[in-house]
Amino acid sequence: MKILIAAEAGFCFGVKRAMKMTERVVAQGCGEGEKVYSFGPLIHNPQVINRLKEKGVEVADRVEDIENGTVIVRTHGLAPQRMEELRQRVDHVIDATCPYVTKSQSYASQLHKEGYHVLIIGDQNHPEIKGVIGFVNENYTVINTVEGAGKLSFYPKLGVIAQTTFNVGKFNAILSTLSEKANEIRIFNTICDDTFVRQRSAAELAGQADIMIIVGGRNSANTNKLVEICRSIQPRTYHIEEVQEIENIDFQDVQSVGITTGASTPDWIIADVVERLKNLPIHSAVT
Ligand code: F3S
Repeated sequence: MKILIAAEAGFCFGVKRAMKMTERVVAQGCGEGEKVYSFGPLIHNPQVINRLKEKGVEVADRVEDIENGTVIVRTHGLAPQRMEELRQRVDHVIDATCPYVTKSQSYASQLHKEGYHVLIIGDQNHPEIKGVIGFVNENYTVINTVEGAGKLSFYPKLGVIAQTTFNVGKFNAILSTLSEKANEIRIFNTICDDTFVRQRSAAELAGQADIMIIVGGRNSANTNKLVEICRSIQPRTYHIEEVQEIENIDFQDVQSVGITTGASTPDWIIADVVERLKNLPIHSAVT
């Protein structure tokens, strides 16, 4: 059995940056009675979060849970009001918001200031979108389907942005339905470059492999998008979070297995997955 690894796998640029910032804070250590917190899990990968916990990084979900110390704002960013609350609460706030998310926030703010109704294409429960909403007050709508676009009211000025990890094909499909929804439409494609190339290389691999394994947190939006894309091409697509889940996959008649990962999956987990596959009763070669 051949093992094919997608050209784009492992941590994305934003996650690598956030991890480096966090490691720097951990290495510097804290003062007496101080702690290091991430505001929400730093990334959507439980194994990495556990390792960070072992190094003393606590996850705080509410501002009230934070005592004195340093708070790291994760890649998804925060609404400005929430960022201000954190700054009032502690002396040290490390902003690890991914620069792609910062750009998206500033486009949302600009559109809002220029009088556009802001249409956000993404998942309204995702932390990134909750943060972006903080930049546009009440003047916004969040949708994530073509059907949702069909139900939109008519606006004189409509400004469109996307969740940075949104499915590129779906984004384009939604855009193609918007022309009747406003007199003027301004679009910022805020899907990040990493998402674009990762989705493309996953789709290419899904077209070649007999089975696709997507490795990443079940709560990771970008991982779930990869599963959706690969499954539409290769129905034998499996989403795993832990390496031992490979045991539940049926490899009958499989000559080649493709592997890709969400943006929060570190290289050491990919190596574990490859190792486990190589040790299956079927002989495997990695390419
Ligand atoms: Fe940033 Fe894109 Fe990663 S928005 S955190 S580079 S998936």
